[in-house]
Amino acid sequence: MAKYIGVLTAGGDTPGLNAALRALGKSALGEYNLQLIGFYDGFRGLMNDRSVILDEQKLSGILTFGGTVLGTSRDKPHRMPVGDKLMDMTDAMLEVYHKHHLDALVCIGGGGTQKNAYRLMQKGMNVITIPKTIDRDIAMTDATIGFDTALGIATEAVDRLHSTAHSHHRIVLVELMGHNAGWLALGAGVAGGADVILIPEIPYEPARIAEAILARVHSGKRFSIVAISEGATSKKAVAELDALTQEKKNAKNKEEKRKVGEKIENFLHSQSNKTMLLAQELESLTGLESRVTILGYVQRGGTPSARDRLLATELGTTAASLLAKEKYGCMVAVHEERIEAVPLEKVVDRRKVVPLDHSWVKTAKRVETCMGDDI
Ligand code: F6P
Repeated sequence: MAKYIGVLTAGGDTPGLNAALRALGKSALGEYNLQLIGFYDGFRGLMNDRSVILDEQKLSGILTFGGTVLGTSRDKPHRMPVGDKLMDMTDAMLEVYHKHHLDALVCIGGGGTQKNAYRLMQKGMNVITIPKTIDRDIAMTDATIGFDTALGIATEAVDRLHSTAHSHHRIVLVELMGHNAGWLALGAGVAGGADVILIPEIPYEPARIAEAILARVHSGKRFSIVAISEGATSKKAVAELDALTQEKKNAKNKEEKRKVGEKIENFLHSQSNKTMLLAQELESLTGLESRVTILGYVQRGGTPSARDRLLATELGTTAASLLAKEKYGCMVAVHEERIEAVPLEKVVDRRKVVPLDHSWVKTAKRVETCMGDDI
C-alpha cells in the first residue's frame, strides 16, 4: 500500500530549500514509492489544507532556484494568528494530517520549526525535520541549508566595501544577519578580511574598537571595515538590560512589573538602530568619517551555492530513506561529515551560538582582527 508523506517549508526562506524538496521528492517517489503532498506557506497551509501533489514534474527544474516553491511563513501551530487572536491550531492541523491519511510530515525549517514540529509530534504526528537557516544556529548539526550561500554573499559584500572604504578613508560598518548567533558575521568577516568583527557572543566596547581603528591609522591604513552581526551589543547595553531584567524580577506587584516591562520594550526599541549609533560614536572617537551598509535580505536571496545544493540533496534523500524505514521523531543532521538522525528532543530549546574558544574566533584574533573586547 502506498504511503503518503506531507512536506512543508517554514520560517525565513533560504537558498537550497527547493534543492531539498527536489531531493526528498525524487528519492521518495523513485526509490521508495512514497507519495508526496506539499503544504503551502508553512504550518498555515497545513492548517488551511492548502496542498499540492508533488509529482515528478513539479519537482523538476527547481534545483537551482532560490526561495521555496511551497512558500513559507513564520506562523506557529500553537500561536496562529486567526482574525485578531492568536490561537492554538494544532488540532486543526492534526485533522488535515488524518484527512490526507498521512504517514508522516517532513518539516524543513530553522530552530523555531524544529520546535513546532516537535509540538506536532507530541500531538501524535510522525515527523521528520530537515535543518535550514542562514544563521547556522540549530543545535546538534554542523551544517544548515542556506548558510554557505549567505556566507558567500556576505563575504562578497565585505570584499566590495574594501575599495570604497579605502578610497574615501572611511570606517564602513556592514551589518550582517544571523539573529542572536554570530556565525555569519564571523565567517564573512574572517573570509573577507574585516578589521573589526562584532558578534552577539562577545559584547563590545566602542573605545576598544576605536583604539584598533586608530592603531591602523597610525600604521598608515586610513580605512577600516567593521563586520557587525545584527545581534551584537555593547557591554553597556548588556549591563543595562541585565539591570532592567533584575528590576522586573524584583517588582512587587503587577503594575510595577508592567512598568518595567515597558522600560524594557523602550530599551530594546532604542537598540534597533545600534549600528548607526555605533558608527556615529566611532566617528567622534576616531575623527574618521563613517558609513553603514545593512546588507539585509540580499543574504537570503538567489541561487544556492554548490555546497548548499549538495547538503540539501544529501539531507533530503536521507530524510526519504528514514521515511521508508519509518524512523520518525528526528532531525536529519550533519555530524563530522556524516549524515545522521538526531532525536528531536535533543534539538529543541537549544541554540548553537559561537563558543568563545571556537577556532574561527581564535583565527580572527590571530590575524589581528579586533572583536570589540580587546585590540
Ligand atoms: O533566521 C533567518 C533570518 O534571516 C535572521 O538572520 C533574521 O534575523 C531574520 O531571519 C529576519 O526575519 P524576517 O524574515 O521575519 O524578517
